[in-house]
Amino acid sequence: MRGKILRRRFLKTGGLAVGSAFLMSCEQQEEEVKPVAAGGTLKVVNYDESKVPSYTLPNPLVMASGQRVTSARMWVEKRRPQLLKLFQTYEYGRSPGRPRGMTFHVISADMNALGGKAIRKQVLINFTGKKDGPRMTLLMYLPKGAPGPLPMFLGLNFDGNQTVAADPGIIINPGWVAEGWGVIDHRATDASRGDAACRWQVEKILARGYGLATAYYGDIEPDYNGGIHSSVRSLYLRPRQSEPAPDEWGAIGAWAWGLSRAMDCLETDKNVDPRRVAVMGHSRLGKTALWAGAQDTRFAMVISNDSGEGGAALSRRWFGETVKSINTHFPWWFCGNFKKFNNDVNALPVDQHELIALIAPRPVYIATAADDLWADPTGMFLAAKAAAPVYQLLGTDGLGATKMPGIDQPVTTTIGFHLRCGPHNVTAYDWEQFLNFADVHMKAS
Ligand code: GCU
Repeated sequence: MRGKILRRRFLKTGGLAVGSAFLMSCEQQEEEVKPVAAGGTLKVVNYDESKVPSYTLPNPLVMASGQRVTSARMWVEKRRPQLLKLFQTYEYGRSPGRPRGMTFHVISADMNALGGKAIRKQVLINFTGKKDGPRMTLLMYLPKGAPGPLPMFLGLNFDGNQTVAADPGIIINPGWVAEGWGVIDHRATDASRGDAACRWQVEKILARGYGLATAYYGDIEPDYNGGIHSSVRSLYLRPRQSEPAPDEWGAIGAWAWGLSRAMDCLETDKNVDPRRVAVMGHSRLGKTALWAGAQDTRFAMVISNDSGEGGAALSRRWFGETVKSINTHFPWWFCGNFKKFNNDVNALPVDQHELIALIAPRPVYIATAADDLWADPTGMFLAAKAAAPVYQLLGTDGLGATKMPGIDQPVTTTIGFHLRCGPHNVTAYDWEQFLNFADVHMKAS
């Protein structure tokens, strides 16, 4: 319950807080942030561009030793591994690789789903292969009659696969889900079918010749403090270890790991082109998509929607959500070491433009929304821009904008970007841009 309620509360308060910046230092400001649950408000968050203090970003093209990165080869062999290690150690935590014994079983297949427009498959991914081991159900839609193998979008969903489309053939998630529409005592009912359909646009995706694969993020780890004990993360705790070590994975690391396991499964499907899988996510799952794409180079493209703090937004920029705020309200998302930077974000050895750079030269799309100031759209644009030199070093066109694009003016260079009008959400407009971007960068096999 906590995950969803917090998510909704924060979005709302983030929005209401617009324009109520106070004239005080970052530290004073942070001390005064009160959790909404305690009856306070987030009114001391900075939303005033003129009050953003100056900051210096670490240069992705300078090694920790101070040596400049001068070639693509040096980036790939030296700097990229160094940066990846820094993100693992200080922000998201180290994750294990593919588990032994994992199994995939197609538990349902329909060649005439969605009124004959789609093939629908549901695959049970058993992470350990053990009878009572943790599992997730991957729901796949493929456009019927399209010549395969097909390019795909892969993303985790917030409330169960049955929310993605009003399709009676989708298996209702039997596990714990956050309270919400069609959920009774944390169990999803029939009434939740299609509740998130507008966020997934299944028919639009299929009509454009792409497939969609999705799984419920709670199958990997339920999103609340203490969820680790019902999470794949608990499989990896050593005897007498009750929490991961400070440099071991948080929930975002676990969800990203789950996306890689979904990719393991997609690789075995003859109808899917594993070289054309775009990993996509919204908000906390937009952070997850970036981290998944940074670590797992099998993802050909990354789409991050409204990901904000700990996603595509620069941490050093004091605007909207801060490192301290996210670590305070969602302490299970990142690794323990990340909390060391709550009061000194400038000491973080990395910033989020370097997370984007880890995806280079693969196409990455950063989607933002004008009213979503909590997620700092400008901070996301500036991160995309600061990642561009790495994309250019690797021979791509980088980011085709030097200034923040206007509302609804998408950029489709290898680093893609848009600022949609409206609030924090995934909309049909967002999906149209993701599809256009995929047409440019992923269509041809
Ligand atoms: C909160 C949180 C954000 C997050 C969002 C979400 O608003 O502060 O960092 O992106 O929830 O995932 O919905």
